[in-house]
Amino acid sequence: MRRVLFLALGMGGLLACGSPPAPDESPPAESVDARTEAAPAHTEADEAQAIFEATLLPEDSLDAEAPPAAGDSEERVRLTPVERLGKLLFFDRGLSEPSGQACAVCHGPSVGWTGPELLINATGSVYEGAVKGRFGNRKPPSSAYATPAPILHLKDARKALFVGGNFWDGRATGEELGNPAADQAQGPFLNPVEQNNPSEAVVVAKVCRGPYASLFRSVYGSSICQNVARAYDAIALAIAAYEDSPEVNAFTSKYDAWLAGRAELSSQERWGLRLFEGKALCANCHPSQPGPRGKPPLFTDFTYDNLGVPRNLLNPWYWQREFNPLGPFWVDYGLGAFLQTREEWRPFARGNLGKVKVPTLRNVDKRPYPGFIKAYGHNGYFKSLESIVHFYNTRDVLPVCLPEFPGTPGEDCWPPPEVGLNLNTDELGNLGLTPQEEAAIVAFLRTLSDGYFQRH
Ligand code: HEC
Ligand code: HEC
Repeated sequence: MRRVLFLALGMGGLLACGSPPAPDESPPAESVDARTEAAPAHTEADEAQAIFEATLLPEDSLDAEAPPAAGDSEERVRLTPVERLGKLLFFDRGLSEPSGQACAVCHGPSVGWTGPELLINATGSVYEGAVKGRFGNRKPPSSAYATPAPILHLKDARKALFVGGNFWDGRATGEELGNPAADQAQGPFLNPVEQNNPSEAVVVAKVCRGPYASLFRSVYGSSICQNVARAYDAIALAIAAYEDSPEVNAFTSKYDAWLAGRAELSSQERWGLRLFEGKALCANCHPSQPGPRGKPPLFTDFTYDNLGVPRNLLNPWYWQREFNPLGPFWVDYGLGAFLQTREEWRPFARGNLGKVKVPTLRNVDKRPYPGFIKAYGHNGYFKSLESIVHFYNTRDVLPVCLPEFPGTPGEDCWPPPEVGLNLNTDELGNLGLTPQEEAAIVAFLRTLSDGYFQRH
């Protein structure tokens, strides 16, 4: 707490400078560069921490997610100026209306860059926006390993096969800024159920008047703040640069160490890997082998599928009439619903109803402590790796849960799929895995958490 107060006072001083300096008053680029270059590595992390904590609301302090500090054993990474700018933006709670919500509030590093609140994960799994009582409609996926996604494109018209994009439904296509993660980063600031800023101009003004405005100008040029559209693009590109940095896309899991010949997998983990690539068919969609020139695997092929995940009726979105007029009848049609909004892709919409993006499995078990609950699937229906693996194995073996016949979902029956169309029945549903084989697959998934070793 002492540190929070100290830093908050420091920030107050900076903010008290008032209106932004006119472009010609800003320091020459060299002097800012010289300052950032000379800065010792540890101040980088402290700065993001300061911005994050300065706007911490008292009731948030318990579940606040701190930025990775330079002192953390797993995250000792030197960032370039643009990556550092992106980090400051990612952790800045001032960039919401009202202030208090940063990207990191829904994408916490200690949880593998996904939702950091146990009680939310254990129930509805969707996060509240900056405005109290406004919830989103999907579970936050990991914001790590999102940058390598190709621009959304139609790969095979005959199969209506799409590849790439960000978001569960691919709507951050990458067509705007050349990278889906950069297109994505423009969404949350203006989304009324997320950071809720009224306009791009408001976000740009906050950055241009804020404590790291000089870094923003030194990276993008001293006139950047004069053009709202360019500045808003620059903000998104900087965030994507940070998301692409080795602090976020770390590739430092036990599995990476094993691929490099620097660690041993246990016999259960190796068995799980064999099943993952063989009998259980997981690698069909979550590739696990290095690519050309040793490129580490991303555990997603960036395609879309409908696995038949049941609805998660604990999601408060169903009862939020203001943003969801359909109430409990709302159905998440995923990629198909997005394609319907684009004339050239409309013919392929029907064949993609109910399909969502294959998520990376990197950090899928990363959690702050062993009993911490994470949610899995686009709506967070699953609450453990064991249960989702059991679902892959038995979706078509157990009967459908019916109100007239009491039974425990996942043990006696599975609820019906959220969307019955386009269900994948070729690669999952009845894998014939024994309980020991399911456990081995889970043991393998646990080797995918970053922070097992340091790259330097
Ligand atoms: C209120 C919680 C919340 C906030 C704040 C938030 N996100 Fe997200 N994020 C989500 C949810 C939910 C999704 C999935 C939405 C969807 O698919 O429709 C998502 C998706 C993403 C993805 C897509 C990952 C992929 O593989 O497709 C990235 C990247 C991401 N967010 C980064 C960010 C950044 C950068 C910010 C800040 C500018 C941010 N998020 C703010 C909840 C949040
Ligand atoms: C046909 C493609 C496909 C196959 C095969 C497949 N997956 Fe998936 N996986 C997906 C898709 C698509 C999702 C998201 C589904 C949803 O949310 O509706 C997903 C989600 C997951 C998640 C949740 C991740 C998160 O962040 O929420 C885990 C864990 C997972 N898969 C593990 C596995 C394992 C283990 C196997 C093998 C037993 C496997 N997958 C086989 C496509 C596939």
